[in-house]
Amino acid sequence: MAEDLTIAKGTKAEQYTALLPQIKALITGEPDQTANLANITAALKEQFGWLWVGFYLVKNNELVLAPFQGPVACTRIRYGKGVCGTAWQQAKTLIVPDVEKFPGHIACSSLSRSEIVVPVFRNGEVAGVLDVDSTELNTFDETDRQYLEEIVSWVG
Ligand code: SME
Repeated sequence: MAEDLTIAKGTKAEQYTALLPQIKALITGEPDQTANLANITAALKEQFGWLWVGFYLVKNNELVLAPFQGPVACTRIRYGKGVCGTAWQQAKTLIVPDVEKFPGHIACSSLSRSEIVVPVFRNGEVAGVLDVDSTELNTFDETDRQYLEEIVSWVG
């Protein structure tokens, strides 16, 4: 297939609805996880223009930076630390409307104002997280949770 992304306009749900089949097509038949995580971050960044979109993967009981799009970021996050480490500990998606109000938030970029972190599950365990950062407050909601959880369910 041609590796071109068609960028959709419209509501957030309409944008996700157009994007999801394209992401599915990009990763279907490709067994290499790094390749798939890389394309997922690129597709999300291209469609939505968020500040930072990336994965951290659990390695030796730490989250370690994996494929991402955006500014350079912290490489390692410990269990229970920051939004990412807390989402790992709680094994659930965390939506942070204002990062300054999240105790222990790790500021990889001073431009980040709101964030969503979605755990990636493998065999019922958290194998990593998808982290998305926005320069605006209150960027993420239940629509993002629903669609991002669906996307990460494809790569666990
Ligand atoms: N803010 C995250 C750290 C990762 S960066 O935002 C890319 C956190 O508090 O876990």
